[in-house]
Order: sequence, then structure tokens, then C-alpha cells
Amino acid sequence: MSSTEELREQVRVRYAEAATAVRGGATNVEVNHKLSDQLQIVDDGCGDSCCGGTTGTVDDGFGAGLYDAAQQGDLPAEALAASLGCGNPTAVAALRAGERVLDLGSGGGIDVLLSARRVGETGFAYGVDMTDEMLELARDNAAKAGATNVEFLKGTIEDVPLPDASVDVVISNCVINLSVDKPRVLAEMFRVLTPGGRIGISDVVAEDHLSAADRAERGSYVGCIAGALSRSEYLEGLAAVGFVDAEVEFTHAAADGMHSAIVRATKPLG
Ligand SMILES: C[S@@+](CC[C@H](N)C(=O)[O-])C[C@H]1O[C@@H](n2cnc3c(N)ncnc32)[C@H](O)[C@@H]1O
Repeated sequence: MSSTEELREQVRVRYAEAATAVRGGATNVEVNHKLSDQLQIVDDGCGDSCCGGTTGTVDDGFGAGLYDAAQQGDLPAEALAASLGCGNPTAVAALRAGERVLDLGSGGGIDVLLSARRVGETGFAYGVDMTDEMLELARDNAAKAGATNVEFLKGTIEDVPLPDASVDVVISNCVINLSVDKPRVLAEMFRVLTPGGRIGISDVVAEDHLSAADRAERGSYVGCIAGALSRSEYLEGLAAVGFVDAEVEFTHAAADGMHSAIVRATKPLG
């Protein structure tokens, strides 16, 4: 295995374990505790990450605590328990009835299910994830929620299993930092969006002055810290594949000099 394949496999194993823990009845607090314990075996420098946290309490900074009570009330318990994001992309994407939405790295399905409600019967929400255990959990959650306008597809976010120009909105919650080929992910978002389509993404983003080594000092790769792009890298990467009107807005701290952020951009009409 190459080093990038090894890294991707570490990510897959970590999130497979999280899905299995939820299946075993773990709550959002417990699954994050469990993940942080495992992380400390792999990497003592995990930090207070979006994807696991090390404090042992679910707060407003990550996971289910990022969703308001009305949204939480609409979801199966297992979808909330599996929430491992660092934002609430459904709250920033301004979804409209009839739109087609794609969630990159859909995990237990929380943002796909919320998007499906927002776009209604005339719209559709897809999730893509590479981890079988997460896909099974998400499909079960969709059945429990009675969602009929959703589909969870197995695949990687570097090679999205959807045709060109097939969705109106791409969302993602704390996943792009985990990719081993981020330029490819940005290009795939552009490809699958219809002209005029937009992205509304939550991710961990570093301040520009932090080098790759600085980011790695602040937390592990699988814990969503070491692989984070800086704000300039995000903006340059989005422009390089053709996006316009890109912006990165820091929302809350994830580690020293690193933030949970909202990333927006548009695919031009022309
Ligand atoms: C931090 S969790 C976030 C899950 C979900 N977005 C949420 O907010 O709860 C990361 C998810 O992305 C998936 N993932 C990570 N890297 C991926 C890749 N390169 N391609 C597809 N899925 C990936 C993992 O399997 C996991 O389900």
C-alpha cells in the first residue's frame, strides 16, 4: 500500500469503528469518547478535534450539538449519535424546494436527511461515503426517518459516482480535510454541479501562517486537524477548478490557529 492508501485506510477504519459503536447503542458523547481514546493510541496529539473531540463532552463545537432542537427532533437517534461534523452545512446552504443536493462523506446520514426534508418531494438528496458501515447506518436511518427522496452511494469524494452537472448544491461536513487528494475533490464538486450551482461546506481550516508541520503538531490526520487546508489554499484551490465568489468564514475554534469554517462558492453560469 502507498502512504496515501494507508492514510485513507486509517480514516476508513476509524469511521467504520464509529458506525459500529453507534449500532451498539453508543450515544454521540460515547462515540466521541471512544474515538478520542482510540486516537490517543494512534496519535497522542489529537487535540480538540471536530471529528472526535477529546474533552468527553458534546458541546456546541462539534457533532450533534451543532443542530438546533427542531432539527434534532426530526432525526432518528442513531443519525444524531453518529454526527461527527464541525458545522451544520444545511443551515448555510439555503436549500430550496426541488433542488438536488449531494453530501460528500455523508457518514450516518444526518445532513442528507435534513437536506431531503428541506428540498421536499420534488427534490433529492444523495450521500457519498467510502465506509460500508457508515453507508449501512445511513440507509437504516433513512428508512427509520421514512425518507424516500434520498440515496446513499458507495464511493470516494475524489471520484464521485454521479454524472456531470447532476446536482444543484454540494454540501459536506468535516470531510474534505480527510481527503488525500483535495484538488481532486474540489474538481469533482465543480464537475457534478450544474452551472449556477453552489457549495455550502463545513470544514476545519487553518490560518494562513500555519505550515503543514504546524497543523500536524495540533492534531492528528484522522481527527480532522493535520490534513486541514489553510484559508488561502482553499480559496486558491476553488478558483483553480473554476469556482467564483468563494469565501471562507471562520465560525469557532478547533485548535490553536485552526477553525471550524463555512466555505461557500458558486459554479459560473457560463
Ligand atoms: C468526520 S466524519 C463526518 C460524517 C458526516 N459528514 C457528519 O457530519 O457526521 C467523515 C466521514 O467521511 C467519510 N470519508 C472520509 N474520507 C472519505 C473519502 N475520501 N471518500 C468518501 N468518504 C470519506 C468517512 O467514512 C466518514 O463517514
